[in-house]
Amino acid sequence: MRFWRNGQLVCLNNVTPGQTLLSLLRETLRCSATKEGCAAGDCGACTVVVGRPSDEGLGFEAINSCIRPAHAVDGLALWTASDLGGPNGELHPVQMALAQAHGSQCGFCTPGFVMSLFALYQRTIAQGRSPSDEDIHEALSGNLCRCTGYRPIVQAAHQMALEPPIATDVEAIRKALLALPKRDNARSTYALPTTLDELLQLRSARPHAKLIAGATDAGLELTQRLKNWDSVIDLSRVAELKRVESFVHHIAIGAAVPLQQAFDALSADRPQIHPFGHRFAGWPIRQSGTMGGNIANGSPIGDSMPLLLALGASVVLMRWHEGVRAEREVLLSDFYTGYRQTAMASDEVLAFVQVPKPVSGEWLGIYKVAKRNEDDISAVCLGLHLVSRQGHLIGVRIGVGGVAATPVRALKTEAVLEGQADTPEVWAQAMQTLTQEFNPLSDLRASADYRRRVLANLLERAWIERRGHHLVRLEDVQ
Ligand code: FES
Ligand code: FES
Repeated sequence: MRFWRNGQLVCLNNVTPGQTLLSLLRETLRCSATKEGCAAGDCGACTVVVGRPSDEGLGFEAINSCIRPAHAVDGLALWTASDLGGPNGELHPVQMALAQAHGSQCGFCTPGFVMSLFALYQRTIAQGRSPSDEDIHEALSGNLCRCTGYRPIVQAAHQMALEPPIATDVEAIRKALLALPKRDNARSTYALPTTLDELLQLRSARPHAKLIAGATDAGLELTQRLKNWDSVIDLSRVAELKRVESFVHHIAIGAAVPLQQAFDALSADRPQIHPFGHRFAGWPIRQSGTMGGNIANGSPIGDSMPLLLALGASVVLMRWHEGVRAEREVLLSDFYTGYRQTAMASDEVLAFVQVPKPVSGEWLGIYKVAKRNEDDISAVCLGLHLVSRQGHLIGVRIGVGGVAATPVRALKTEAVLEGQADTPEVWAQAMQTLTQEFNPLSDLRASADYRRRVLANLLERAWIERRGHHLVRLEDVQ
């Protein structure tokens, strides 16, 4: 694998497909500036920044190195907290501002904050514009600090434009990276295909390889379940799958589209999805993880699926068959066959998520209940879609997460509402049914009883909101 770091190209042999970037930095390269906190993508201590070359320039992304395979940065530029200073030991403006604003106490979270702010610096100040409050809060949403508090860190973000700059020769790095020879996927145990045909052929030849995109969920297999991967196919660079396309009746979201971009596309038609997208996870996870990956992993508490089930979404599965692409479309409600089991065959790839466009009279509610506002997994998640026609409810779909072995539709509750008059009595009956429809587990996130009650409460909230009452939402609290 090859990557640019600290003014030179780093070339390494024998990096195994399951080695994480954090392990490569700390254990192989003995660069200990990057820290391990949670090893789960939750805390941001391990944040590093990658530079992705394109025709337009170099895109700067903060990523969690603890759950990202090392090979995923092949052909990119990489910065850690020890790579930012000037040639004579000058601090980078980000580091100087954090020190001036008293934004650090410990050495665990601080390198991660520095890197998130460095990515923000490159996207804003280095481009000649000041970051807004929203930019700063977004950039820091994947970093946790348990002692200093966030105010001085936000203060540092405002101050970094005032510190003496340190130039990064972005164009030289971009040219050096674009000049690298193409990766030999046929000979590598970590394949990074760039076209859909190449991906499907690789999948056909290696049906047991681990298929990943941003690895924000799959990466936990390496760090939490201590598995190893012998062979990986990483689809994150497949050009055809990096697009969102709009058709007459639906939009198609490619499997390599980052979550943030996918939520932005969905929010364009349905603005109420926007705050929900922000609660999915912190910024680095939303930039790296994909909606296709969230669906394919099939976690019962994945946040995309209740929304997509409510919207009547489907997935397009593709494979290489007799020298050509073959595809089939499966409704998301038919996709899951058991706990983390799906209808996808071993030689198939989830290529697109198809989401119907809004219809006249549509109402959509989407709710996530978790212990923290950001960076947290749902205890319960519920999406409700319906269409109101002449006082009656039709097209009712309720997607639920956190109450069964897979994300599911609440079919019994839907049947109570479908075709009925929009009256308090009908909704009360639906709430009663929803309380009894599932048999959830009790675990560290919530008890079974809490989950059942909260489901019915969310339905009640939807009923109240539909009447135009504005209820306080966690997303609205500043
Ligand atoms: Fe916590 Fe990586 S160590 S996000
Ligand atoms: Fe490190 Fe807060 S200064 S956890």
